[in-house]
Amino acid sequence: MLLTCQSGFEELLRAEAAARGLGAALASGAGWVLLEAKPGVGLPELCFAHRVLLEPAEIGADSVNALAGRLCDWFTASMRGEKVEGAWPSVWQAPIEIPGLGRRLGAVEDEFAVLLKKRFSRVAKLAAPELPRGTRTARGLFVFAADFGRVFAARSVWLGGQRRMADDPAAPSRSYLKVEEAFSILGREPGPGETVADLGAAPGGWSYSAAKRGAQVVAIDNGPLKGGALGHPLIEHRMEDAFHFRPAAGIPYDWLFCDMVEDPQRVLDLVTQWTRGRWCRHFVVNLKFGHADALALLDQVQRSSGSPLGDCAVAHVRHLFHDREEFTLVGTLAT
Ligand SMILES: C[S@@+](CC[C@H](N)C(=O)[O-])C[C@H]1O[C@@H](n2cnc3c(N)ncnc32)[C@H](O)[C@@H]1O
Repeated sequence: MLLTCQSGFEELLRAEAAARGLGAALASGAGWVLLEAKPGVGLPELCFAHRVLLEPAEIGADSVNALAGRLCDWFTASMRGEKVEGAWPSVWQAPIEIPGLGRRLGAVEDEFAVLLKKRFSRVAKLAAPELPRGTRTARGLFVFAADFGRVFAARSVWLGGQRRMADDPAAPSRSYLKVEEAFSILGREPGPGETVADLGAAPGGWSYSAAKRGAQVVAIDNGPLKGGALGHPLIEHRMEDAFHFRPAAGIPYDWLFCDMVEDPQRVLDLVTQWTRGRWCRHFVVNLKFGHADALALLDQVQRSSGSPLGDCAVAHVRHLFHDREEFTLVGTLAT
């Protein structure tokens, strides 16, 4: 299987896969790791993987036309006996770190579309270039360019749900993109009338994201709010230490947000207090692992009985498209 990730995080992905019992790494490059398949081992939810191409074919050729032709041969052979009734995802990806590779893959994709239209016009018309939303498995065509003459192609993919989000000029920080991406992975977002406690809120990207959806936010941070968060009628700014902030007795918040630059262990303990106490219904929490052992922290989050995930009906841990040396927990508590 081919696992893709944010460039620079291949080693962490490889180590995570090994720790979760997946096969040995056969090869890797910018933003990808190829693992040997281990029969009978199911695919666990991975944090650092953005996508997992299942049973990928490795296809090589020197020219755009030859590569498109081979891909089209492989794709049409793989479709034998399959009925295509509706739109299917055709998603082509190249690591941006290799200059010109995206343009080259775009040319292969265009030529592939021409060839497919000649052979199966109806199927070609139903191709949709958008990545399906959320975390799930999907069937279609998924192509990843490893270099100029070699692609991996698969018909089935596991999606972690990570994706580039659209910016908002009024958002006061780039962190805004993280919480937007986190909502898309959880499949739920704050709505009008819901309440949010935002711990470590400044300059206010996460608070702004919730307030623009009509939620009522308490933003806790000694730092100042800025941009669209400053003076927003739905955001109450409290200059307090978030480790001491508690909801009023018997009145839980709908959402806990937590994005503090603090020791991740301390943050995790705080969030567990919130989930054990049922002080919130949903959460988005970012843990910074810059000065910590990322894999040990991840293992603790995913397996320890004291983890907030143990209190959840739904939970995911992801290294987001917009994350750097950090990963993000999203969850909805069990009732
Ligand atoms: C990465 S920034 C948060 C960015 C924010 N999520 C946004 O979207 O703009 C981290 C914030 O955590 C705050 N912080 C760190 N420790 C804190 C504490 N004990 N109580 C409150 N805020 C804290 C810092 O002041 C800083 O503003």
